[in-house]
Amino acid sequence: MSILALEEADVFYGKAQALQRASIAVGQGEIVSLIGRNGAGKSTTLKAAIGLAPLRAGRRVLGGQDVTGLKPSQLARRGIAFVPEDRRIFANLSVHENLVLAQVMDRRGPWTMDRVWRLFPVLKDRGAQPGNTLSGGEQQMLAIARGLLTNPAVLLLDEPTEGLAPLVVEQLTEAMRTINAEGMAILLVEQNLRVPMKLAHRQYVIDHGAMLWSGTTADLLADRARVEALISI
Ligand SMILES: Nc1ncnc2c1ncn2[C@@H]1O[C@H](COP(=O)(O)OP(=O)(O)OP(=O)(O)O)[C@@H](O)[C@H]1O
Ligand SMILES: [Mg+2]
Repeated sequence: MSILALEEADVFYGKAQALQRASIAVGQGEIVSLIGRNGAGKSTTLKAAIGLAPLRAGRRVLGGQDVTGLKPSQLARRGIAFVPEDRRIFANLSVHENLVLAQVMDRRGPWTMDRVWRLFPVLKDRGAQPGNTLSGGEQQMLAIARGLLTNPAVLLLDEPTEGLAPLVVEQLTEAMRTINAEGMAILLVEQNLRVPMKLAHRQYVIDHGAMLWSGTTADLLADRARVEALISI
């Protein structure tokens, strides 16, 4: 059984259809990547999953239960954590305050302040600094740490490595691997195959709001030329 799934989801912005019969599922313990070029519908898929984009057709399923009608706040309480593209940390609060505020969700689970500090020691070192003084990579770490502190069932990450230096991308890749190894299901959105090929168990390719390809990472290796063509700009 999947932890989180969209089934045949249609999403519209006004008259423009942004998702067309889109289906995607994340299973227990899986890292699933969603790949696609600019404007393909990746962020919209995440927004549909977290309830920010209403479904005009189709279903949202969490832990086997139909949650199509629930609001974002209800879905968050039931264990969907979303780290958006713009990271949305509190710029004028300290790193520590940013982390403390993430704990208001009061969901039980293994992720504590100590545990996120172990994962990202720099967040402890920089605890007193305002959020906006962190580097891009550190801000991404803070955003992921905030998601983890809500002890979600599944973590949705929208282009976490975009615009970051190769060394930082490697650190984040390693961190995602650790988070997953400790049991967390992850839905990872990326524009290219760089990180997904290293991390993901299964992959989906989206274009023009439709899921055009899905398979295991081994399947993708075998079908790489076709997938590259679907995501190339
Ligand atoms: N709030 C909105 N209102 C109207 N159209 C939107 C809105 N958000 C996204 N769109 C459109 O919906 C389509 C899908 O956008 P989406 O943001 O999901 O793409 P994406 O794959 O995340 O792209 P990117 O790689 O640039 O982040 C695009 O054509 C986009 O212009
Ligand atoms: Mg996007």
